[in-house]
Amino acid sequence: MISALTVGLLALCSSTFTLTSASTIPPYPKPGQTVLKDVHSASSSEQDRPEEPGSHLLSRPSWFESALLARRLLAHSPSGVISTTFPDHISASSRTPSEVAGFPIGLREYIADCDSVLSTDLAHGGDEGDPTILALRVATSFRNIGAGSNLSLEIDWWDHLSDAGAVYPGLPPSPAALPRVTLFGHLETLSIADLSSSTNDAAARLERCFLESHPDAKWWLPGAVGSPHSSFWARLVVTQAYWIGGFGDVQQIGWINMTEWKGIRPERSLDGVGDGRGWKDVRLPGRSIMRHDGGNILGNFRCRYTARLLLAM
Ligand SMILES: *[C@@H]1O[C@H](CO)[C@@H](O)[C@H](O)[C@H]1NC(C)=O
Ligand SMILES: *[C@@H]1O[C@H](CO)[C@@H](O)[C@H](O)[C@H]1NC(C)=O
Repeated sequence: MISALTVGLLALCSSTFTLTSASTIPPYPKPGQTVLKDVHSASSSEQDRPEEPGSHLLSRPSWFESALLARRLLAHSPSGVISTTFPDHISASSRTPSEVAGFPIGLREYIADCDSVLSTDLAHGGDEGDPTILALRVATSFRNIGAGSNLSLEIDWWDHLSDAGAVYPGLPPSPAALPRVTLFGHLETLSIADLSSSTNDAAARLERCFLESHPDAKWWLPGAVGSPHSSFWARLVVTQAYWIGGFGDVQQIGWINMTEWKGIRPERSLDGVGDGRGWKDVRLPGRSIMRHDGGNILGNFRCRYTARLLLAM
């Protein structure tokens, strides 16, 4: 509680800094300084007890299962936050303040997992986990990329907190316990001419796939008549993926194996990729985490996990 207050106060204080002052990160607290440590030691004797029924669910998913979860997260994500950086030099005539030169900016954009509808003769597509993006030329993210910025895309399951409920024993519903993944790579434009000339009219298929997630976007699709903004199709060619499955003692946190990311398919993954399962074989946290007999597995766990968790935070 005390440390939460401290963090809150620090956040308040830091908001009064100007953009040009260097940020500061509070140092690690000295051992013994935290009240939560006492909570932890009080419960540590319980850790010697035999595991309770159901506690096997607390074992971490394997890295391959985490990659399946990450691909499923992409498949269910209609939007994500694209991070880019402003150019190092912003001209005085620009409406963008020169103080933000070189600063990162994260902006939420529409995406869809439509790679599978693109034909492989485009050298695009093949369902390799490269998100499709509807890019507006006027949008800051794409202007920064046009000016040479690198990019990453963050997607998460945080909007599903009410379905997911409590996924960590002894802790109330917590967004921090839910998965998120950040995808790194480069943007590749999908030209309408290339798409339309492909064997299976990828342009129409891509439109249909994208509009399933974003019916409203039909007003600013590439080439839409009377559209207020010029747009184009692009895909993020993923080269790295950083996964945070939730709290680190029950989920993986780290870099996903790219052979697995690209080789995973919905039903059966490519030969030699993990154990061959597809992303439909794993579930993201949702109401279905109940036991078959209707009991809530989570009720069986003890507060020692809470103590461990709070300490970890
Ligand atoms: C983008 O990343 C590449 C490395 O992948 C780096 O060489 C380049 O300088 C970066 N561009 C910017 C504008 O930071
Ligand atoms: C990455 O995944 C592939 C396919 O599952 C596997 O063969 C390979 O050993 C993995 N690489 C590493 C470094 O674990």
